[in-house]
Amino acid sequence: MNIEEIKKVVILGAGTMGQQIGLQCAMHGYDVVYYDLSREILDKGIKRVTKLATWYASTGRLTPEQLQQTMARISSTADPAEAAHEADLISESVPEDPDIKARVFAQFHALCPERTIFTSNTSMLIPSMFAEATLRPEKLCALHFHDLRATTVVDVMPHPGTDPAVTQLVHDFAESIGCIVIMLQRENHGYVFNTMLSSLFFSALTLASKGVSSVEDIDRAWMGVTFMPMGPFGIMDQVGLSTVWTITDYWAKKMGDPGAQKNADFVKQYVDKGELGYKTGKGFYTYPDPAYQAKYFLTGETKE
Ligand SMILES: NC(=O)c1ccc[n+]([C@@H]2O[C@H](COP(=O)([O-])OP(=O)(O)OC[C@H]3O[C@@H](n4cnc5c(N)ncnc54)[C@H](O)[C@@H]3O)[C@@H](O)[C@H]2O)c1
Repeated sequence: MNIEEIKKVVILGAGTMGQQIGLQCAMHGYDVVYYDLSREILDKGIKRVTKLATWYASTGRLTPEQLQQTMARISSTADPAEAAHEADLISESVPEDPDIKARVFAQFHALCPERTIFTSNTSMLIPSMFAEATLRPEKLCALHFHDLRATTVVDVMPHPGTDPAVTQLVHDFAESIGCIVIMLQRENHGYVFNTMLSSLFFSALTLASKGVSSVEDIDRAWMGVTFMPMGPFGIMDQVGLSTVWTITDYWAKKMGDPGAQKNADFVKQYVDKGELGYKTGKGFYTYPDPAYQAKYFLTGETKE
């Protein structure tokens, strides 16, 4: 199959990421079908897609005409056979659990044409964890998106059994939906950007949990030298501290690293108090006016 032959894209999971990915595909001319567990979930998802598309139109990312054409390319069904019919490419965004991903892919393997390419948007898993279970490992490749409202950077990551022609096709597909494509030559938990970000988080948390420096001073150091609008703790608040804790704690336990465990425990203090960052109004900082946005933050004062 070549890129011109890809017409129908099926989005498995109409949640946060599936909504954004499906819209991105429809905006670039693909027929998009959402599949999820129930009509109710799909209706909610499509409502959010419509809201997002309308917001894109309000910011000039879509003209009113493009908005109409984009929405006309989108449909949804809770019937897996209907979703799979004549599917050319699948983008999977079901929960981050290798067993669920394996089950859904195996279900769609039985229903899809032989040509259908399977892509997964997993964040921290690697495709080889569920490749064999999909029953078409050579056609499986990770195509990982970040928040599409903010960036179109994507990672394309094959597993050792992916057919190189499939990897190339997924690369071409990602470019065709307007993405900046980062290619991985081999599997890596966390892809490229997220691996660098985890190292930044790890260093920042180590400095804080060992009592070397305060949260504010660590962010000040990063912001003052790089001219970035927030430091690692500000970014962690945006990501959400429950996510940061889950990942930090998972790896600390897996590696049996006491330093990493101390970092995870440092974040857990906030999680236990329900201070999960931006989304709860409090984390390392208090929102909507976090100290790092204050005029005098860099000079050492936290309040204007
Ligand atoms: N949220 C992020 O910022 C982000 C970023 C990159 C990647 N990811 C990854 O994307 C995937 C989805 O994350 P999300 O945040 O969109 O999750 P979400 O919980 O918002 O959405 C998951 C959707 O999958 C559906 N689902 C569950 N089981 C299903 C099944 N058997 N068949 C079909 N649909 C099913 C759920 O009903 C839900 O609508 C995860 O692997 C996550 O790690 C998330």
